[in-house]
Amino acid sequence: MSKYWNDKVREIEPYVPGEQPKDRKYIKLNTNENPYPPSDKVLEAMKNELNGDLKLYPDPTCSELISEIANYYKLDDDEIFIGNGSDEILAFSFMTFFSKDKKILFPDISYTFYKVYAELFDLNYELIKLDDNFDIPLEELKKTNGGVIIPNPNAPTGKYINTESLKNLIEANRDSVVIIDEAYIDFGGQSMVEFIDEYDNLLVIQTLSKSRSLAGLRVGFALAHKDLIEGLNRIKNSINSYTIDRVALAGAKAAIQDTKYFEKITKKIIKTREKVVKELEKLNFRVLKSESNFLFVSHNKASGKFLYENLKDQGILVRYFDKERIDNFLRITIGTDEEMDILIEKLRLILNNN
Ligand SMILES: Cc1ncc(COP(=O)(O)O)c(C=O)c1O
Repeated sequence: MSKYWNDKVREIEPYVPGEQPKDRKYIKLNTNENPYPPSDKVLEAMKNELNGDLKLYPDPTCSELISEIANYYKLDDDEIFIGNGSDEILAFSFMTFFSKDKKILFPDISYTFYKVYAELFDLNYELIKLDDNFDIPLEELKKTNGGVIIPNPNAPTGKYINTESLKNLIEANRDSVVIIDEAYIDFGGQSMVEFIDEYDNLLVIQTLSKSRSLAGLRVGFALAHKDLIEGLNRIKNSINSYTIDRVALAGAKAAIQDTKYFEKITKKIIKTREKVVKELEKLNFRVLKSESNFLFVSHNKASGKFLYENLKDQGILVRYFDKERIDNFLRITIGTDEEMDILIEKLRLILNNN
């Protein structure tokens, strides 16, 4: 605390990212990173950018990367926005589309950054309670609002909502923007991207952090009607025009191009996930149906906190949330087959000794 802080800084409760400890080598299953490295083509493209041109600013319009994404999704270039991770796009979106007078709606158990942004920007919001099965009650998101935001699949539950239900939600909210945060969509869900030409109030946000193994690069993108994209650019260009550096632009472009590698590793993660679900169920875990690269699990004989602490002692990091309704759950990122075999073995031992 400093006497020089303004009232806002005194009040805010910043987001707390998952642990990235350096004290020992852990099997990291706590921040939904991809266990596989990025494609070799990505690394090569980035190395090629390490030259004297770094003296020059990067392209503020990200035009080459945008064209690559437009080509991939069969969209126009002006329907795409690039951000420094999807977190930045989320922040810009809250600034662009939401205002103080009407409540933004989002689930109570969801990506915690939404609440942080709403409070930072002094916006009104209402938390919509997940039902007893941890599903998002979509009807509740149809009441009068100043905007809706949900992750699909949801985090930390991993649960996915089909496109028909989401179309319904968007149709019921034609007076406000509906943001679908698709950080985990490539692990089994169907993207809403194909409907952006149908709905000018739909904003889809994706990231290269998860399915393209580039959490360290910080690149995300939004897809929407060109007028929504123009709004995001107005905010970006009022804060920092150069959010994506030269090296990141080159790496991201190569990542979008290398569809073969992307498909190979996402399929592999899905396969591992389905195997781990069965193993966890054999150990009597309750495992929520996941279409993402993580599982949300609880056990009736051992608390979430107990399992989290014991796994950490054994060199495995998972995510534990000390929060009402989910404090008995663990969120476990899907790692390699070898990592998941070790996890299952350690859990078996911990449960047997309990
Ligand atoms: C639902 C959701 N949205 C967005 C993000 C942010 O991703 P990025 O790395 O693109 O900022 C995360 C990261 O964990 C997430 O879980």
